Amino acid sequence: MSRRVPAVTVIGGGVIGLAIAWRLARRDVRVTLLERHTPGAGASGAAAGMLSPLKEAGEPGPFLDLGLRSLARYPEFVREIEACAEMEVGYRRDGRLDVAFGADAADGLRRQKELQETVGYTGRLLVPAELRRLEPGLAEDARLGLATEHDHQIDNERLVRALWLAAEREGVDIRSGAGAAGVETDGPGGPVTGVRLDSGEAAATETVVVAAGAWAGALDLPRPLPVRPVRGQIVVLRLVPPALQRVTWGPGCYLVPRADGRLLVGATVEEAGFVVATTAEATRRLLECAIRVVPALAGAEIQGFQVGLRPATPDGLPVIGADPATPGLHFATGHFRNGVLLAPETAELVAAEILDGQAPDPAFTPARFG
Ligand code: GLY
Repeated sequence: MSRRVPAVTVIGGGVIGLAIAWRLARRDVRVTLLERHTPGAGASGAAAGMLSPLKEAGEPGPFLDLGLRSLARYPEFVREIEACAEMEVGYRRDGRLDVAFGADAADGLRRQKELQETVGYTGRLLVPAELRRLEPGLAEDARLGLATEHDHQIDNERLVRALWLAAEREGVDIRSGAGAAGVETDGPGGPVTGVRLDSGEAAATETVVVAAGAWAGALDLPRPLPVRPVRGQIVVLRLVPPALQRVTWGPGCYLVPRADGRLLVGATVEEAGFVVATTAEATRRLLECAIRVVPALAGAEIQGFQVGLRPATPDGLPVIGADPATPGLHFATGHFRNGVLLAPETAELVAAEILDGQAPDPAFTPARFG
């Protein structure tokens, strides 16, 4: 049964906020999206677009289940978005390769393969000759590889542009430059009445979705969230022959080849507050790793740098669902390294909760933070 929802305000124009706004608008909700810069200007635009639930989760549990469900939604999500926005979003299903140079790392790959098998994935362990047949550019001393066909990738910058376009076409009112300062309620424990902007302006609304990424922890909310920024830096190279075909993880970096000839080398995981900066040390470390994995990259042109602030929570899980203490307040943040992967499933969950009264998953409830 659908509930009457006159209007929803989404705070945050990253991939999560855009996907939710678009999904709600497709179900005839009047949506306003408040974005302090421009859509995708934060972590979503600076991501690498890897869709790798197993690599990121590392163990069975609710986070892995969420990631697998979201990955399964991707083909249909991409089909819908591309049709709505009339542009391609660079969705590729080339799989992923992990490369180990030492004995410990090789053992780690064998353990990863076992974890893959628990969810029905079939990874292949590759000896050096097989590795180089698959990716001729790899270093000759690579000892073992693990190839999986199940992980995908997407061009996150194109995805954000497409979601922005599709959301506007569905009637979402996207307000760039409108930074939210906090959510207002009708007294303590009362329902949501509006959103206060940095400018001092107040926007009346009964339903708010906080999808502000790393900034969610800085908002003035009835339930303050312990979300903090964790910086990620990426170096963007020009691919050199023999180009990598698939996403490849080495000792301390990942390499993501894009169809336009770029190669993303990422990423740092740094506690640096809200400082968005490219540093010499991170660049050195990422380039050393990239050249270790593919020696020919020593001659690659540096095309640029990307920096984003991932939204992290104390328990490493996202915050998705209604606040039980404040009617009309919903959360969709804390996705840490996985905003792009988790966008389709998060948007479905939030829309189903707001419009169909679907109960939120207790693993991700904001109430766990007291
Ligand atoms: N998802 C990869 C990263 O955050 O670096």
